[in-house]
Amino acid sequence: MAIVNTHYLNLPGNYLFSEIAKRVQTHAAAHPDAKLIRLGIGDVTSPLPPSVIAALHRAVDEQATAEGFRGYGPEQGYPFLRETVAASCYHGLGIQPDEIFISDGAKCDIGNFQELFATDCRVAITDPVYPVYADSNVMAGRGGAMPPESPENGRFSGLIYLPCTAENAFVPSLPEKRPDLIYLCYPNNPTGTVLTKEELAQWVAYAREHECIIFFDAAYEAFIHTPDIPRSIYEIDGARDVAVEFRSYSKGAGFTGLRCGFAVVPKTVYGRPAAGKGGKSGSIALHGLWNRRQTTKYNGCPYIVQRAAEAVHSPEGQRETRVVIAEYMDNAGLIRRCFEDLGMSVAGGIDAPYVWVRIPRGMDSWTFFDLLLQRAGIVGTPGSGFGPSGRGYFRLTGFGGRENTREAVERLRRLSL
Ligand code: MLT
Repeated sequence: MAIVNTHYLNLPGNYLFSEIAKRVQTHAAAHPDAKLIRLGIGDVTSPLPPSVIAALHRAVDEQATAEGFRGYGPEQGYPFLRETVAASCYHGLGIQPDEIFISDGAKCDIGNFQELFATDCRVAITDPVYPVYADSNVMAGRGGAMPPESPENGRFSGLIYLPCTAENAFVPSLPEKRPDLIYLCYPNNPTGTVLTKEELAQWVAYAREHECIIFFDAAYEAFIHTPDIPRSIYEIDGARDVAVEFRSYSKGAGFTGLRCGFAVVPKTVYGRPAAGKGGKSGSIALHGLWNRRQTTKYNGCPYIVQRAAEAVHSPEGQRETRVVIAEYMDNAGLIRRCFEDLGMSVAGGIDAPYVWVRIPRGMDSWTFFDLLLQRAGIVGTPGSGFGPSGRGYFRLTGFGGRENTREAVERLRRLSL
């Protein structure tokens, strides 16, 4: 028998959201008549905006004509979308269309990007964290000992954890030990918090001083309402030398099923070869490596999906997505106010669709998950699934739809938590 990648054996048994889906399925099978309200995984519920649907129809019809038919497209994305993204998301920030790599979503990009780096690179992640950052590095062999072997803190010994707790208002401190790679997600999943320009600038300065690379996950930038909160890390001077950015059409534009996102890889971000293996300058542009990786392993996001993504940036697309985002944020506000009224301490729900709540009476996250599921028919996400600092917390999303969210809030109020 072939030997498997043993690093996979270091992972928790199931990916967080698969574990939740499994438990929910079991519950639903046992209670077939119960109406479940799903506020767990951040999956959207509003239909795609009309301008996106129209663009899809047009692009499908093109495929029926000899002139309009498309086979393999450029692995990096069609120029029409790369140019649109550069102009609409990075105007004035110095990002060029050929620094934008269109893909089938931010999850894949951010899970794959670590492949460009050596196995012994040190990785810093915030804690709690979107599990893909930790798990993809564990798969690559950067995790060290797995949680079952370090049950006292549930941490992988090879990763540097940056705790985000109520004590630091969920804003991580700069690492004490120098990492090579730093993952930041703002607006944050799962805590729903944001970084100010000054706070983000500290990270860019740190990365420049210590020669680190920041993986900046901006999947939730469309949900920022507070003025002056950075939507892109490239709003910070000097970031284009140290940061790659990941964005998604999933949450703001409803593409969780359609799949489209992009990675921004400025040509000015460099790594270096292992000692003794230097190229001309001793530094290697990540842009070229990512291009090499994508052209080898990826055949590009479908043309019709890229036309749909292009429509999101049109004036109508922007108007339509703003309406949907406002509804999701109203939902998040309802959830947030409900927990505040119940006297629970809560973060997020202002510039992000996630509400992060401290569970009362020292109950643990999975016990609270079961309690909400069984007594209120509400599916949320246990904070401990996002890392040890998430213990005792719980996450609900604003993506559940207006009526369902209202009903969930009523059920929560009746629970007398
Ligand atoms: C989440 O619920 O954290 C997200 O939906 C997961 C994802 O975007 O992959």
